[in-house]
Amino acid sequence: MARILITSALPYINGIKHLGNLVGSQLPADLYARYQRARGHEVMFICATDEHGTPAELAAAKADEPVAAYCARMHEVQAGLAAGFRLSFDHFGRSSSPQNHRLTQHLAGRLADAGLIEEVSEKQIYSKADGRFLPDRYIEGTCPNCGYDRARGDQCENCTKQLDPTDLIDPRSAISGSTDLEVRETKHLFLKQSQMRDKLNAWIDGKADWPVLTTSIAKKWLNDGDGLRDRGITRDLDWGIPVKRGEADWPGMEGKVFYVWFDAPIEYIAATAEWAEANGKSDADWESWWRTDKGAGDVRYVEFMGKDNVPFHTLSFPATLMGANFDGSEPWKLVDYIKSFNYLNYQGGQFSTSQGRGVFMDQALAILPSDYWRWWLLSHAPENSDSEFTWENFQVSINKDLADVLGNFVSRVTKFCRSKFGEEVPAGGRLGAAEQALIADLSKKIAAYEQLMDAMEVRKSATALRAIWAAGNEYLQNAAPWSVFKEDPEAAAGIVRFALNLIAVYAALSAPFIPDAAAKMAEAMGTDGAWPQDRAAAFETLAAGQSFTVPDNLFDKITDEAREGWEAQFAGQRG
Ligand code: MF3
Ligand code: ZN
Repeated sequence: MARILITSALPYINGIKHLGNLVGSQLPADLYARYQRARGHEVMFICATDEHGTPAELAAAKADEPVAAYCARMHEVQAGLAAGFRLSFDHFGRSSSPQNHRLTQHLAGRLADAGLIEEVSEKQIYSKADGRFLPDRYIEGTCPNCGYDRARGDQCENCTKQLDPTDLIDPRSAISGSTDLEVRETKHLFLKQSQMRDKLNAWIDGKADWPVLTTSIAKKWLNDGDGLRDRGITRDLDWGIPVKRGEADWPGMEGKVFYVWFDAPIEYIAATAEWAEANGKSDADWESWWRTDKGAGDVRYVEFMGKDNVPFHTLSFPATLMGANFDGSEPWKLVDYIKSFNYLNYQGGQFSTSQGRGVFMDQALAILPSDYWRWWLLSHAPENSDSEFTWENFQVSINKDLADVLGNFVSRVTKFCRSKFGEEVPAGGRLGAAEQALIADLSKKIAAYEQLMDAMEVRKSATALRAIWAAGNEYLQNAAPWSVFKEDPEAAAGIVRFALNLIAVYAALSAPFIPDAAAKMAEAMGTDGAWPQDRAAAFETLAAGQSFTVPDNLFDKITDEAREGWEAQFAGQRG
């Protein structure tokens, strides 16, 4: 049994996430967590809301709420939606937690002790119209790298380059739109990441198994001379983690807070501490996941995120953790594998939070159960390139894969059995050549599926699972128990008993993708949904005489009318 630590990029607190956000980190992370738990491993699956920085302040101002209250409310909303999508976090924390305050201040203190923090008098943009400094997202302009004209002060959405507000061409205030800006001096802390270039390079070079999407982004920012320049880790904002050096005040830093991208990844660790506190565990329990000197030596740590998050997770966050271990006394667990995603587009354009374009998590759940969304999103995950949601493609996939292949199989087998043999697994018959052949075929297919799931090949795993379902359907079609029954009821009973066992196996295999339908299948078959580890035994789990039930229709087809209706409903901007 292995110990697997899984984190999903933390969703910003500033509103309900769209399906593109969901498929870029939280959902595939959940798929992996569910799968590894089913394989018997010890899993710690962590997520949280990312609550600091300008996005939070701007959203609270727009909602006309104090920022702390806004964050508390939106955290509950996001937690509810996560539950609705069956995201199986061991803990869904908050980056504003006391644990994160303490840990962030502690790590900043360690970095200062290491000589990796510099106090810099920085030139910052001050807006006279707004009467304040404009950090990060409070400022917009043209990207100096790619020319995108709506780049934000912290990062260009278009080319993923990390920026400082003063880099922007034709800058304007995101609050008032004012261009009456001037540069003023203010003091800030800088993390001397550039001093860690060799260490980071060596560390990334050791990651031969990482996907190209991840390493190419990391290497690009590491070696273009600019990606690893020293970065400001403090801001002139009210909302955030006050700048302290461990528990001590930091002279000259009064009234300043840490930059959101400094404290957010630290929340992965702090959220595990929140988990410990919420579950009556000790510090040793969470440290056993994060400190290699306290039990995390054998932990495998996997991170899930969208591609725009990669620079922070391959450079800044590891630099923080490596730097804090300057004297070898705090060996923090570094990531072993980063699974990153491209973007999901929506009907020929981009999903956009700011423009309310696309389908958002609450809207999705209001029209269809989560399994439908999980299946489509995961089977179309934007892994090797961007992918696109269209209502037509959604309708076709759901109707074919879920309704025609899986749902139909379950319903035909259980209904036929009930009508001919009653709601009990029938006795008689035996596993013949066709059944043995299918067992052999499925054993290979299941092994292939496991390999893909272990490798986090999300789309290919979905294809492999679909092939497993289809093989059962094909078998049933050929075995035709309804015809056999007329001549030889005993032989028909053997076929049906085998097919009922297939449902039990499918329940286990499908659970990471479609947990609700899988639970219904397992419940109907009276099994516990355990993974078919022992292939031979798995197909004879259900013994003759055992009772079962016919589950309610697992999936409804999406009609053309429904599709057209949703297409129209989601054509405009979210209200
Ligand atoms: N909130 C960020 C985003 O949505 C992700 C933060 S991930 C973490 O892009 F590393 F900061 F935790
Ligand atoms: Zn750009």
